[in-house]
Amino acid sequence: MKILFIGEIVARPGRSVVKEVLPEVLENEKPDLVLSNAENLAHGRGATAGTIEEMQELGIEFFTGGDHLFWHKGFDKEIGNLPVIRPANIKDDLPGDGYRVLETKVGKVLIINVMSINSHKYSELNLTNPYLKVEEILEKTADQDVAVSVVDFHADYTSDKHAMGFFLDGRVDAVLGTHSHVPTCDNRVLPKGTMYVTDVGMCGNIDSVLGVKKEIIIDRVVYSQKEKFEWELNGRRAFRSIIVDTTKKEIRRFDKEVI
Ligand SMILES: [Fe+2]
Ligand SMILES: [Fe+2]
Repeated sequence: MKILFIGEIVARPGRSVVKEVLPEVLENEKPDLVLSNAENLAHGRGATAGTIEEMQELGIEFFTGGDHLFWHKGFDKEIGNLPVIRPANIKDDLPGDGYRVLETKVGKVLIINVMSINSHKYSELNLTNPYLKVEEILEKTADQDVAVSVVDFHADYTSDKHAMGFFLDGRVDAVLGTHSHVPTCDNRVLPKGTMYVTDVGMCGNIDSVLGVKKEIIIDRVVYSQKEKFEWELNGRRAFRSIIVDTTKKEIRRFDKEVI
């Protein structure tokens, strides 16, 4: 089975670069399943039913989330009807599921989304242990005849992500990191067979700080000014993705910059 996981699609530049690049990737790779992380899809933070549908029309079939997923008012009421999961280790009072077993023409795919607790800004989300949460979900789904399992671990620290990869090595097919918006080139097969990458990266503007106008972030970090975030809409964009081939036991990047 071949799975294409597209890096976090950030705001309008992210959606436009996906629109421009995805058709050629689908044509060349012919993936069995296309996934992406939707937490920055609409206006750079959160997702909406409209932007999810826009991406579905391009061929993305299912989405994971992260700390920003519920940014837009009303998404908590929409998520139940959309092909989207949110981190499973958010305490139970948020709507939506943290994992899903998808039926595809080549077998069932288990997708799990969890988020690291190692960042103070997440404290309001009442996160529980993401490692044990994945174990719990694997136990719960053990009798479901799953052909392929994929974990999206949404985390800042590269060490957290490596630990997750080795913790799950041999127990899931792929551990793919998201959240940093920066693509890493450490994609590899771990010793017991799990395919791993620390971060898929983002689809969006690359002459920005993770999608945000660089001047705003420079003012914040250099002069402690607190300007509102604005997304960089002009300039170079990149499409970032990971291709996981469970038959060939291969994990590779597909990245493309677009002017
Ligand atoms: Fe993000
Ligand atoms: Fe995030």
